[in-house]
Amino acid sequence: MAAVTGRVPFIAGNWKMNLDHLQAIAFVQKLAWTLKDARHDFDTVEVAVFPPFTDLRSVQTLIAGDKLPLAFGAQDLSQHDSGAYTGDISGAFLKALDCRYVIVGHSERRTLHGETDEVVAAKSAAAVKHGLVPVICVGETAEDLEQHGAAAVPVAQLRAALTGLPKGADVVVAYEPVWAIGSGQAATPDQAQQVAAALRPVVSELLGDEAGQATRILYGGSVKAGNIAGFMRSPDVDGALVGGASLDIAEFSAIAQFPKHVGT
Ligand code: PGA
Repeated sequence: MAAVTGRVPFIAGNWKMNLDHLQAIAFVQKLAWTLKDARHDFDTVEVAVFPPFTDLRSVQTLIAGDKLPLAFGAQDLSQHDSGAYTGDISGAFLKALDCRYVIVGHSERRTLHGETDEVVAAKSAAAVKHGLVPVICVGETAEDLEQHGAAAVPVAQLRAALTGLPKGADVVVAYEPVWAIGSGQAATPDQAQQVAAALRPVVSELLGDEAGQATRILYGGSVKAGNIAGFMRSPDVDGALVGGASLDIAEFSAIAQFPKHVGT
């Protein structure tokens, strides 16, 4: 895949609100050893973890101290730089912790915290401004799927999120159908490919053709070691945002090792 598209596949683990900082240290250490034992080539498949905010300093110290080839990021950021926003976290603080990535607009933030397309756009812009790569999540509910088909809502959400970003901005897009998240019912590779293929032109239109070709589009929603190969065979799917299965070291490592199952 990478050889054809030039896009390095990206396997990202969204821990959600799981693992405290002590558990995170043990987990990241074990994950790195497991991938090393499996001779994982991190240049061929990038692997990142997205722990809760309170774990980030510990994860940063471990990864830097032991020179582990894992990337890491946060699960959210504020659209503001600093000020009277109790409980919020600035992108500047995440950058100071060496985060490379930050998830923006996850469906749980949209649903549970009322994040609108405007908020997601402001957060995406804040991430880019602070030198972070936003992992912009889009996806339709089961109701949207029935009413509008699979691609309409994700395309509109992505358009809103990218409007206002500078041309050539470095972003990752995650297509996560809401009905597939945590449900055990993943989309089919064909469904993921169809939506990813509809999202890529939106990136080209708003960030430029080069960005359209270079931007990695992930699939997320009940990804497991047993179904990753099908997604990775899809030409416009460049990786996965993994929730539940990212908390199981053997399972997550097997997902990152997908070239072994794809047989390419
Ligand atoms: P899941 O979650 O893999 O548990 O379905 C994916 C996500 O929410 O990013």
